[in-house]
Amino acid sequence: MRVSVFSSIAVFSIFAAGVLAFAAIAFAGVSEGKGIFDSKNCGGCHQIQGPAKEKTIEDMLTKKAPELWYAGSKFRKEFLEKWLKDPKPIRPMEFYSLTKKNGANHAKLDAKAAKDVSDYLMSLKSSDVKAANIQPKSGPQGRVVFEKKQGCYGCHEVKKGAGVVGGLTGPTLVGAGDRLNPDWIYAYLTNPKVFKPVKDMPVYTGALSDSELKNLAEFVAGLK
Ligand code: HEC
Ligand code: HEC
Repeated sequence: MRVSVFSSIAVFSIFAAGVLAFAAIAFAGVSEGKGIFDSKNCGGCHQIQGPAKEKTIEDMLTKKAPELWYAGSKFRKEFLEKWLKDPKPIRPMEFYSLTKKNGANHAKLDAKAAKDVSDYLMSLKSSDVKAANIQPKSGPQGRVVFEKKQGCYGCHEVKKGAGVVGGLTGPTLVGAGDRLNPDWIYAYLTNPKVFKPVKDMPVYTGALSDSELKNLAEFVAGLK
């Protein structure tokens, strides 16, 4: 009896030590990533502290880059790590420009730095993104809202057959399923003010019912 109590304590201690060691390694990634983020002056362009500060269009236009204070709720980790090593344009145009094409000149990181910085960015969460169990779907319910009921592709690129169609004002939604957390897409469509207090994309909460918004989020989350 005694032996088994001891051995379960031993097993538990080894388990606990393992958990702690794992947490310590994950934390090292976060703190090293934060160090790299600061030393490369990524914060010179990106906000990492929420909530959103902008109140007017002027405030919005002084921003040099998309805010990252909820990056850990918005992105998929694998995407971040891959993108930081090899950034490809997400917005077809330069940030907030209507005329200049995205010059594809974003800072690049080596593999180790990309891993650490993505660990750090994944630690930046927003409590406004709740687990909503949004599952990627490519069925007709979301597609009808996206293509017919609301002209989402008036401002967003999507794949159509072998090509890409859609407007250039918003970020591309090609590959949105690999890039974005489905629960964030739903949070963004239902409560855009938290993330973008200054209206930039139309707000759909009045125009669409909650189940339509859910279908839409599932459709966007399924875009390849
Ligand atoms: C000179 C300003 C500038 C600096 C410095 C900068 N970025 Fe960016 N970053 C941008 C712009 C502009 C975009 C939008 C690019 C696009 O849409 O293709 C962007 C996009 C991103 C995105 C995707 C965000 C989104 O919402 O789509 C991430 C992640 C990111 N940057 C991380 C970093 C990291 C990490 C560093 C430091 C190594 C860094 N950036 C340095 C301007 C900057
Ligand atoms: C009038 C143009 C316009 C229309 C129409 C529009 N959007 Fe947007 N959308 C934008 C802009 C601009 C942004 C980027 C806001 C920013 O980052 O400041 C955006 C951002 C997004 C994002 C976040 C993408 C990212 O990587 O940050 C999603 C998802 C999205 N829109 C989905 C939709 C859906 C679904 C519809 C249709 C119901 C729609 N949009 C209609 C302009 C538009």
